[in-house]
Amino acid sequence: MNSNSLVYERLHQNLLDLKLNGVEEILDSYLEIAAKDGTSVMEILDHLMHEEKMRRETHLFETRMKWSRLPVRKDLSEFDFEFQPSIDQSVIRELTTLRFLHNAENVVFLGPPGVGKTHLAIGLGIAAIKAGFSAYFISASTLIERMKKAYHHENLDPYLKMLARYRLLLIDEIGYHPFDEEAGYCFFQLVSRRYERSSTILTSNKSYGDWGEIFHDQVIATALLDRILHHCITVNIRGDSYRLKERKRMGLAPPHEKV
Ligand SMILES: Nc1ncnc2c1ncn2[C@@H]1O[C@H](COP(=O)(O)OP(=O)(O)O)[C@@H](O)[C@H]1O
Ligand SMILES: [Mg+2]
Repeated sequence: MNSNSLVYERLHQNLLDLKLNGVEEILDSYLEIAAKDGTSVMEILDHLMHEEKMRRETHLFETRMKWSRLPVRKDLSEFDFEFQPSIDQSVIRELTTLRFLHNAENVVFLGPPGVGKTHLAIGLGIAAIKAGFSAYFISASTLIERMKKAYHHENLDPYLKMLARYRLLLIDEIGYHPFDEEAGYCFFQLVSRRYERSSTILTSNKSYGDWGEIFHDQVIATALLDRILHHCITVNIRGDSYRLKERKRMGLAPPHEKV
């Protein structure tokens, strides 16, 4: 084995030991091109390090996306604000700065079905993950189910601790399923734990005045809203369902919009 191939072997091994897998992978082909182009050593190092950094960032982003359980990848650039003029775009622009996350403020999207509440929540979730925050999406009905199960198995505390770890929690569709007394108690614990510590995005088809109905208890609803709304940005969407628009476009509009 000549000294060149020894150096080659050692370089690859060191890159792997240092977990610079991205560099290790592209090194051979890149060095070949760089040699042909007469690229300087500094430029070569810069390119290799940049590639490694980009790959790591993509990997971290993908891992956080997987953990987040976001149901679809729809970002804010795919949202047609012209279709929904009741949304103040400057509020959404402010939200995309993610200052609300730094300030542990909540965001609530209210409005009838199909107006884009979940889409906007997911869009902010993706923006948060891109910026390096951890996020977790769950529907209110699944949350109720999981919290009650944990409560019955005397596991509520670890479950809430797990949910408290996320810098951003997205709870979708508050109001489609009622919270009984037990679920209301668990939810109150969750909201109290995150209060002034980390942000929660909620979506609901019910206005705040109707939240008493969801919780079958005005006292719990008031106490919850008190904490949720203390530091909160509410986006009230009044408009037509986008789903209905799409169906109309395809000539499939039914007489009534289904949830
Ligand atoms: N203004 C919009 N621009 C683009 N797509 C939209 C818009 N509003 C809603 N949608 C799409 O319509 C569907 C329903 O929106 P969704 O966010 O689920 O509504 P909601 O949660 O308010 O019921 C989704 O596929 C969503 O991506
Ligand atoms: Mg929705």
